[in-house]
Amino acid sequence: MSPFLRARLPERAGRRTNLGLLGLSLAAGGTGVLAFGVGAPGPARWVVAAHGAAGLGLLLLVPWKSVVVRRAARRPLVARAPVGAWALAGLAVLTLLTGVLHSAGATGPWPATAGLPVLHLHVGLAVATLVALVAHARGRRQRPRRTDLSRRSLLRTSALVAGAAAVWGAGEGLLRLTGAPGAERRVTGSFERGTDDPAAMPVTQWFTDAVPAVDHDAVAIAGGGRVVRVPVADLAGDDAVRAALDCTGGWYAVQTWRGTRLDRVLAQHLGDVRLPDDGSIEVVSVTGYRRRLPLRDAADLLLATSAAGRPLSAGHGAPVRLVAPGRRGFWWVKWVARIEVVDAPSWAQPPFPLQ
Ligand code: HEM
Repeated sequence: MSPFLRARLPERAGRRTNLGLLGLSLAAGGTGVLAFGVGAPGPARWVVAAHGAAGLGLLLLVPWKSVVVRRAARRPLVARAPVGAWALAGLAVLTLLTGVLHSAGATGPWPATAGLPVLHLHVGLAVATLVALVAHARGRRQRPRRTDLSRRSLLRTSALVAGAAAVWGAGEGLLRLTGAPGAERRVTGSFERGTDDPAAMPVTQWFTDAVPAVDHDAVAIAGGGRVVRVPVADLAGDDAVRAALDCTGGWYAVQTWRGTRLDRVLAQHLGDVRLPDDGSIEVVSVTGYRRRLPLRDAADLLLATSAAGRPLSAGHGAPVRLVAPGRRGFWWVKWVARIEVVDAPSWAQPPFPLQ
């Protein structure tokens, strides 16, 4: 470390460093969760970039934090950093490492990751890090100070944000320069698997979606007090959508999906009953898995029976799956058994499926 830095670190390291680390960690956690929720390329680009910057920005504060740690190590044993603080440090390092490994293209699963994709390991470690962080910060409450909003503090915060963005930008540049697989990933951070070749797409989209044993050949269309059973053969229409299925497991595939647009299905079978103007469409799988989408989106949704000219396979939702362009994979309900127009708004459900 340069004498210039060494001379300045001890007096400056402390409260501000800890607050910076806390802020960046919470920003990384928040944007990480958001990154799982957004599917549209525009917003995803910003959220994922902010996530990478917040995560990598933690590295900028390491020199200051090491002074805080060394200072604590000189205190009497009882006042030193407890085991929890070291566990937090270890978890944070592993979270950063797995995040970078995923982004670079080491998507796994590998034997060293206990058979898990690196991204799943990253998310698991991140959750553990955030729990350890909350426990660590609880015993070290900081009262707000008037100087926290001073011009100086705002300048320092801006410098940290700019530095974090620069580290992220440098990482992206390095991926492109070295031609690492990560340079080709989608703006959501997902890697291409099986575009125009549905058989090459991984099957799992959400960790509980095992292929069901039941076979069904009709979909119930319900709303306004009416229920109609529509044979699957009638849904194998000619509406086509080219869209990316982008899974939170860290992969995506673009296919031409074919079937019948949901607005047409609703108009044909419920056209003459009164439906709520502001309602939503509940799409239910034979497994009981369900997601609610806004009724006004019906024209953008497809009940698909084939992908890339081939009937859907059991693992990919046969006989009918929902295609929801611009939304992450957990919205693309597989093995659709029922479509119901309901009053409840689509936002009144857990943002991520809990089934
Ligand atoms: C303390 C919390 C977290 C930290 C410190 C962290 C850190 C990181 C880092 C450093 C990267 C690599 C970025 C890059 O190289 O551009 C990354 C990638 C990623 N993380 Fe996190 N992360 C955290 C939480 C989460 C959570 C909770 C989720 C999801 C629920 C998540 C999802 C992702 C995804 C999808 C990527 C890939 C993004 C890409 O390829 O650019 N992270 N994370």
